[in-house]
Parts: sequence; structure tokens; C-alpha cells
Amino acid sequence: MRLSAASVTLALILLLPGCARRSQAPGVTPAAGIDPSWPLTRKARIAEAPKAMVVAGSPVASNVGRDILRRGGNAVDAAVAVGFALAVVHPEAGNIGGGGFMVIRLRNGEVQTLDYRETAPSGASRDMYLSGGSEASVTGHLAAGVPGAVAGLTEAHRRYGRLPFSAVIEPAIRLATDGFVIDDHRSRSIGEDSSRLVLFPASRATFLPNDQPPAVGSTFRQPELGATLEAVRDSGAAGFYRGWVADLIVAEMKRGGGLINAADLAAYRAIWRDPIEISYRGHTIYSMPPASSGGVTMGEILNIMEGYSPMPAFGSVALMHREAEAMRRAFTDRNRYLGDPGFVRNPVERLLSKEYAAELRKQIGEQASVTPKFEAGAGAGASTTHYSVVDAEGNAVSCTTTLNNSYGSAVTVTGAGFLLNDEMDDFATSPGQPNMYGLVQGEANAIAPGKRMLSAMTPSIVLDRAKQLYLVTGTPGGPRIITMIYHVISNVVDHRMRLAQAVEAPRNHHQALPDSLRVEGSGFLPEVLDSLRARGHGISVQGTWGDVEAIIRTPTGWQGVSDPRGGGGGAGY
Ligand code: DON
Repeated sequence: MRLSAASVTLALILLLPGCARRSQAPGVTPAAGIDPSWPLTRKARIAEAPKAMVVAGSPVASNVGRDILRRGGNAVDAAVAVGFALAVVHPEAGNIGGGGFMVIRLRNGEVQTLDYRETAPSGASRDMYLSGGSEASVTGHLAAGVPGAVAGLTEAHRRYGRLPFSAVIEPAIRLATDGFVIDDHRSRSIGEDSSRLVLFPASRATFLPNDQPPAVGSTFRQPELGATLEAVRDSGAAGFYRGWVADLIVAEMKRGGGLINAADLAAYRAIWRDPIEISYRGHTIYSMPPASSGGVTMGEILNIMEGYSPMPAFGSVALMHREAEAMRRAFTDRNRYLGDPGFVRNPVERLLSKEYAAELRKQIGEQASVTPKFEAGAGAGASTTHYSVVDAEGNAVSCTTTLNNSYGSAVTVTGAGFLLNDEMDDFATSPGQPNMYGLVQGEANAIAPGKRMLSAMTPSIVLDRAKQLYLVTGTPGGPRIITMIYHVISNVVDHRMRLAQAVEAPRNHHQALPDSLRVEGSGFLPEVLDSLRARGHGISVQGTWGDVEAIIRTPTGWQGVSDPRGGGGGAGY
């Protein structure tokens, strides 16, 4: 059965590589090229509601956001509440010791982005990791950048929130002090990183009671984190960046040889920036500018692909080859040119021009181009988390936040109960050498005091051809974030997939270096992969990746879709 279905599909793909599948009956999987045995089909978690929707990497956090909306909060109130709640109920990535990016679109059309990315401490220097070994930028005190999350969430609320700040942070405080019930995803996740968490006494005490991850169904309490959140409730950002919490961060740094000092904390600011705006086949996409590379790099990929009209069918050799070449070129530019705009000039306008995309498209022939090879390190388990919110008035927030690795540096601030990030590894810690994600980056992203490390996070908001709010989306996944959000948008716009199908569909990713096209598990037909190999692509078959949390407008309201690869869920009303 499987083979004959596959070969029929293959024949279609190979014979009609330029043929887009534009007229799909609702409910029919449109994706020729997905291996029929692909296990994620119809596995996305779907929530539907007429007025408002929240999707997040933890269903508990989504419920918090939905309740804030019901109580009259707007999308920003809900996003801030979800952000703090995730720091409690999704500790692998939700955080107050990390940073993130938020894209906000108000119903009146105003769009703003907020950059609350971590910064390098004042004592950091370009070559600080060259002698200490690559692990120093990943695990332990030296890996942490100055956290941005509390500055970002409080600033978003100050500018756009409607409810009192105490009301939006209160659910997180309750979840920390009263506890919440651990589900399978969270218990497993803590278990997977236990060998790192056990290295630091406060992490061990918090996350590994009796040296075991909290059992599924048990109530997990974090009283110290609750007290830290109360300090933020009572004093806002100053409750974190000054006072006893700041003192505990500095003491933790001294204990473990880290660099963050009191002046670094007091100086931290979130920054409002104009969004990246991309037009794609009549749609308008708002996404994150540097210090995230997400918007620019995804825009470059979309601009190149827009020139292929009609798009080749999903899963076809023609499509995957062109995508790989477009991604290769966009990542080459990313790794070379992009960095913190406070430190380097980012040639955003040129990289995002349709003329430049046309030049790049002309270079793409029938065979794979070549980029120099290297061996990427294995890397630790990584985690970030994304949440999307639409309120009853049509305001939308798309927010991605991270500690970088799962559980960040694995260091919990003693007495304050929260994990510190290992975001320093997102710099070119050794320019020209691969980082944890195999990214090879240059001087634009070299370490300097106070500089923001380049990110790939791509929180995005899409308008339809009538300029109406249509799709809110984002995901974790390191550099693959960029290509995943490209895929979600292209799957919906080009391949006419329903959002759940677009999220379930197997993913492919190229990031210039390492020079291979990564494909998810058994998602694509072996014959297609063989044809790509024959064109010169190194194919790397990997496990699944990402946790897309997306909301789409429907004729009756909003549909939230949570990636079957993660442990999230949606809640609306
Ligand atoms: O900012 C970045 O690009 C990375 N720190 C994101 C890491 C990540 O998404 C890991 N999650 N799977």
C-alpha cells in the first residue's frame, strides 16, 4: 500500500514539478510528497473560539492568557501574563532570566516590535571563550547574558496594557507559590536535562527533588520564584534589576565566576523597533528586525521564492531544491552581515529588496551550489517557546522567548528561584567556527560589552490581501525557526493547506553551513530525497523539530493550532 501510494505521488511530482496544487477540497491532505506514513498527520492540537485566542507551549499558560482576556485585558495584557506564567509552568524555555522579542499589531494598524534580547555583560570580550572550551558558552555562569525578559514584559505592559500590572503577573505568582500539576512533557523535559541541572545546587534543589524530575501528576511548587515575581509585581522592572533580586544575581555570578554585575543589570533596557515588513504574494508580513535575524532572513527566502510562480508542489524535488538554494543564500547573508544594530550596520534594505532577490534567484540552477564544509558539534537539547494572542478587538501579539538551551545555562539563581540563560553562545564565540546550532558567523556578531547577540527568533504577524489580520505565528528551534515560519506561511499561502496541515507537514532546512539539506524523519519520499542527492544536495535525515504555536482567522472566529511536536495547547472564548 505504502509503496504504491508513494510511487503514484512520486510520478506526479517528477512529471509536474512546476504544477501548484491550488484547488484542494477542504479536509483533503493536499501535500503530495509527504510520505503517507508521516506520523504527525492530523495530530496538531486545535482550539477554536469566536472572539479571542491564545496558543502557547503550555496549555496552563494559554488558560492564563484566556482568563486575562475574559477579564477585559487586551492582547498585550494577555501576552505579558502568558510570558510570566511560562517562566513558571514551562521552565525549559519560559523565563525571567532570558529574553525575547514581541511583535504587536493593534487593530488600528499600528505595528511595533519590542527587542528584549539579552546583552553581553560589560566584562565580556571578543575572545573570552577561546581558551575556556566551547562548553563555557553553553553551561554555567559564564554563559549568561544580562536578562531582558522582565524589562521587556514590563515595558510592553507600560505602553499598551489596560489592566493593572499586578493583575497580569498575579496568575504567575499563584502558579509558582501554590504550584501546578506536572504533565508528561514537563516531567520528561526536566529528566532529559537532569545531567546539566544536577551540576548546580539551586537547580538541583528546584528541579530535581529527591534527585528525580517531578513525577507526572505531582504538584510542582517554586516558592522562591514566587517571591521574585512578587518583587516585580511590587516594584516593576526595578524589582528585578535593582534591590535584593539583583543582589542575588550578582552573588550567584561571584559564586560561579560569571560576569554580570550590578551596573549591567541597572543599565539594561528593552528597545522598541520598527518591524520588518515583507510583502508576499499580496500578503503583508510583519516580523522581527535585528537584533533578530528572523525577519530579514525569512524575508529574503520569501522574496526569492515569490519569483517561482506557480510554486512547485509541496514535497516535490523542484520545490525542495529551490528552497534549499534560497535558504542557503539567505543564511549566507545572515551569517555575514547581521548583528546588533547598536554595533553594526545591517544592510536590511538591500537584503530585502525584490531586485536583490531576483539576482539571487538567477544564480539558482538545476544543481546544488556548494558551500565549504565543516563538522558541526553535537550540541545540547535546545528549547525556546512561542505564544500568539488575538483579542476580541483584533489586537494581536506574536512573542518568542528563550533561555537558548533547554534550561539555559542550567544555573538557577540561588534564593531567587529562576534559571539564567546561556545566550552568549548565540554570538560568534569563535568567529568562523560553528556554534551550538552549527551556525558559522562572522565579525558582525562578534562579542562586545553591552551588545545583543544575533537571534533567529521570528515572531510574525501576517495580513491577508485585504490587509486584515490573518495569521499570528512563531516557534522555537534555533536557526530552523526562520525556515519553519517560512514553511508555515508558504504552506498556507502557496500550498493552500489548512493551518493544522501546514504545521503538521514535514520540514526541511538549509542554513548554508553545514552544507546539507536537513529533512524531518520519514516526512519526504525516499525517491525525492534520492533525486535531491542526484542534484548534489547532502541530505541529513533528522528527528522532528520545532513547536509552532499559531492562530489563524476563520469564517467563524479564530483557530489556534499547537504543533504536535510539542506540549502546547490553545484556549479561547
Ligand atoms: O535566539 C536564538 O536564535 C536562539 N537562542 C534560539 C534557541 C532556540 O530556539 C532553541 N530552541 N529550540
